[in-house]
Formats: sequence, C-alpha cells, structure tokens
Amino acid sequence: MAVSHITPPLQPVTLADYEAQSREKLEPGIWAYFSGGAADELTLRRNTEAWQSLELWPRVLRPLTGGHTKLRLAGRELAHPILLAPVAHQKLAHPDGELGSALAAAAQGAGYVLSTQSSTPMEAIASAVLDDPGRGPLWFQLYWQHDRAFNLALAQRAQAAGYESLVLTADAPVSGARDRERRSGFTLPTGMGSVHLQNLPAPSYQPSETYCAGLPAHAPCWEDIAWLQERTPLPIWLKGVLHPQDALQAKRLGVAGLIVSNHGGRTLDTAPTTTRALPLIARALEGGLPLIVDGGIRRGTDVLKALALGANAVLIGRPAMHGLAVDGALGVARVIRLLRDELEIAMALTGCRTLDEATPALLSPS
Ligand SMILES: Cc1cc2nc3c(=O)[nH]c(=O)nc-3n(C[C@H](O)[C@H](O)[C@H](O)COP(=O)(O)O)c2cc1C
Repeated sequence: MAVSHITPPLQPVTLADYEAQSREKLEPGIWAYFSGGAADELTLRRNTEAWQSLELWPRVLRPLTGGHTKLRLAGRELAHPILLAPVAHQKLAHPDGELGSALAAAAQGAGYVLSTQSSTPMEAIASAVLDDPGRGPLWFQLYWQHDRAFNLALAQRAQAAGYESLVLTADAPVSGARDRERRSGFTLPTGMGSVHLQNLPAPSYQPSETYCAGLPAHAPCWEDIAWLQERTPLPIWLKGVLHPQDALQAKRLGVAGLIVSNHGGRTLDTAPTTTRALPLIARALEGGLPLIVDGGIRRGTDVLKALALGANAVLIGRPAMHGLAVDGALGVARVIRLLRDELEIAMALTGCRTLDEATPALLSPS
C-alpha cells in the first residue's frame, strides 16, 4: 500500500496560529482588508502590544474549587465573557460567512454581534441560532445611515427577527484612511455588498463632495441616539467610546452599555489603546454601566486583564475571521474555545475562582 508523505497542516493551538494559517489561505487583497488598520497602523499594533505589556500578579494557595467563568450581562447568564465583534463582509473569509460564525458562537456559548454590513441577511442568522438554549446574546450592529427612517426600519427589522439589543457604532462617521487596503487594490467582489443596505435611498449630497461636506447628512449625533431610543424598545449599546466624558454623556442618555473600542485600529490612527481608555471610563462611571472592551485581545490572559481593568466582557474581531478563513464555522468555534480555555488557565494561575475576583489588584501589587 502506498504511504502518503503529505504532512497535514498543524492543528492550530493559539489564535496566532490561526492568524498565520489564515494568511496562507486568503488572497492578498482580502488579507489586507481583514488584517489592516488605519494609516500607519500605530493603534493597530499598540492594541496587541498594550495587553501584552500589562503584567499579572498571581496570588497563590487560594481555594479554586467550584470556579467558573459565568457572568450576568444584559439580563442573561452567560457561560463566559467572550462575544464575537461585528465584522463586515464575512463571506470574504469563507463561504460559511456570518452564518458559520454565528453558529460557532452559539455552539460555544458566545454572544454574536451581526454587522450592518453583513453578507448574510439578519433573519437567516437569527432563525439558525435563536432556538439554541446554550447560545449567548444575539445583537445587531447599526451603522447609522443618512436616512433616519431607514435606520428605524433596520432597528424594527432586527427586533422582529429576534435580536436582543442594538449596537450603535459611534467611532466611524467616515471610514479610516486604510492605506494598506488601498495599496493592495482591494475592492469588494461583485455580489458581496451589504445585504441590509440594498434599499437605502440615495443620499442628498453628491458623493464627489469632500468628506466634510457630506458628513452632516449621515454622521450620527447624540440627538440621533435619543431619537432612536424613543422609537425602539431594544436596548442600545454604544460602540467606539474612548473618552470618559463621552461615556458620562452616554450614561446620562440611558444607553444599555458601552463598548470601549478603537475599532481595532481601523478608524483614527494614534487613538489610544483600550487598555488606557477602559480604566478611565470605568472610574468615571463608577460601575454605572456594563462595559465591554475590544481591540487586540488574543490570549486568555488578555481577557483576564480586560476584566481586571473594569470590563464585564470582551469582543474579538479578527481572531474569529482567522478561524473562519482556516476552517469555516469549525475554525471559529475552536478560536472561541482556545481563548476560553486560556482564560480558565489564567484564572487558576492567578488565584481567581470567578470573574468577579479579577480586580485591578491583579495588575498591581499595591
Ligand atoms: C474586517 C473588519 C471589519 C469590521 N467591520 C465592522 C463593522 O461592520 N461594524 C463595527 O462596528 N465594527 C467593525 N469592525 C471592528 C470590530 O467590531 C472590532 O471593534 C475590532 O475588530 C476589534 O479588534 P480586534 O480585531 O483586534 O479584535 C471591523 C473590524 C474588522 C477587522
């Protein structure tokens, strides 16, 4: 019998392994789209470095029996604090696309946030996962459009489909200067557009005008959030908040929670890392709002550090896309599982039985 000498690719054991393997799978333009950031990519690079540079101060000999990663968030009990961030155009990574990611998230008890710029209709995702008793929250991310009525219609459609919250992204009134992506010549392939924006009425401004000339027509403002709150029963989370003053304003407005985020370094380059913004926001709000953080989280130790800095939960963006590119839904499920396993190891090694025990004292011995 012939013996095969083909070595199968190594089973990835870290999120970085998935990243490396996905780079081999994706064509260069698509790789640039998923992995790139804005301008000189300083924020993008600092995002991962910032988590790495924080040190954990382990406590020893603490009782660990009965430990778990459960938490309460948005009125639900979650198995662990990892949710998948909204990421546009997921079918670019793999034909399984958003459906694959959402099924993987549900199977792993992780929350899923569907992007406005999804390549799969929101109803298809909802009907695939809503009945799963072990799933995490299912939320719809809203990129505010120039037509208020259109935004409301999207919110109502999400509510009717079974989405439990809206995530309004506030940090991208325009796309960042994504130089790497432009250099690669990346354009969306035909048929890969945002399915939810197909019937969007044409804007009243000319696309040829400067960014600023067109902006007042579609960039969301605080009044738009208030306007939407009055018309939808869905809780609204604000994503992309970094400044403590904005966090306080959001709290006064009565939003459901904040996602402390610099959009994974894809919007304003040199914006601070979320390791810096999160503790400032947590201190300003004094526990007044639930906080989720994202940007550069690649290890279970990063998740634990995020909780120690004041987050209730984390989002991961690119790592899920790396898993999706390598192995479709299965790859996403493994990425979530790896991160959760690493979190549990980090908890045990720092003497944390439950997530509540991840306090700032983990990061500083004083
Ligand atoms: C390819 C790509 C597409 C994204 N699309 C969206 C989007 O549609 N809506 C949104 O609010 N954020 C979007 N984001 C930002 C993510 O939700 C998240 O904030 C970021 O990826 C977190 O950083 P990480 O990738 O280092 O985990 C996107 C990020 C990437 C990498």
